Amino acid sequence: MNVLLVSGSCRPPRANTQAMTAFLKQQLELRGAATQVLEVLPWRDADPELTHEAIAAARSCQTMVILAPVYVDTLPAPTLRLLERLCPVLRDAADGDSPGSPQVAAYAVLHSGYPEPAHQEAGLRQCGHFASQAGMQWRGGLGFGGASPIDGRPLEQAGRFASHLRQGLTLLADSIVAGEDVSQAATRASRRIPFPLPGFLLVRLMNAMTRRELKNLGVAEPLAHPYRDAP
Ligand SMILES: Cc1cc2nc3c(=O)[nH]c(=O)nc-3n(C[C@H](O)[C@H](O)[C@H](O)COP(=O)(O)O)c2cc1C
Repeated sequence: MNVLLVSGSCRPPRANTQAMTAFLKQQLELRGAATQVLEVLPWRDADPELTHEAIAAARSCQTMVILAPVYVDTLPAPTLRLLERLCPVLRDAADGDSPGSPQVAAYAVLHSGYPEPAHQEAGLRQCGHFASQAGMQWRGGLGFGGASPIDGRPLEQAGRFASHLRQGLTLLADSIVAGEDVSQAATRASRRIPFPLPGFLLVRLMNAMTRRELKNLGVAEPLAHPYRDAP
C-alpha cells in the first residue's frame, strides 16, 4: 500500500503537524505501508504549479491522509491552496482508472488549540468535501483538541499532552492499512482532553481568558454566530 501524507504544516521546522506526520508515517511503515510526504511549505509565499514529484505522488497513491492545524477556525490558506491544486490531478487519475478499480481512500487528521471537537468540525467537513470532489473515497477524519502544548516536539517526547494523539494515530494506522473507515476507538481517543482538569472547567477557563483578551483588543461582537442558522 502506498500512502501519501499531505502535511499542511505552516510553521516548520518545529510544527505540531510535522510531529504528527512523522509519528503516523512511522506507524504506517511499521505495518508495511510505503509512505511519501507532501509538505505544504513551498505553497506559502508563491502560488506555483505542482511539481512533477507531487503530481506523480498524487497519481500513484492508494491512500491519502491530510494532516493540518486549525487556524482561525478553518484550514490554513496554504493547505487549502495545495488541496485546490491536487484536486484536478486526483480527479483526472480517478476518471482515467478502468471501471471497477478501487478508489483512492482519503482520511484527515486535524488539530486545534481549543479542546472541543467543534473547533475541528468545519475543517474536517472541508476535507470530506475535497475527497468527494477529487473522486476519492472519504474514510473519515480525526480531530484532536488541546494540541498547542506539544510545541513541535516529537509525540514520543510530549508526555501526557500527546497521549491522545499517540493512541489515536496508532489506531488510525491500523484502519488505514486494513482499508477501513476511521474507527470509533480512534475517534474516542481523539476526543480525550490531554490536560489535568475536567473538560467543563477547562472550557470555562479558556472561554474567560479568550473573552478578556478580545475585550482588551476591542473586538466588536466576539460572540456573534453569523452562520449558526445556515443549512
Ligand atoms: C495563526 C494561528 C491561528 C490559530 N487559530 C486557532 C483557532 O481558530 N482555533 C483553535 O482551536 N486553535 C487555533 N490555533 C492553535 C493551533 O491550531 C494549534 O496550536 C496547532 O496544534 C498548531 O499546529 P502547527 O504547529 O502545525 O501550526 C491557531 C494557531 C495559530 C498559529
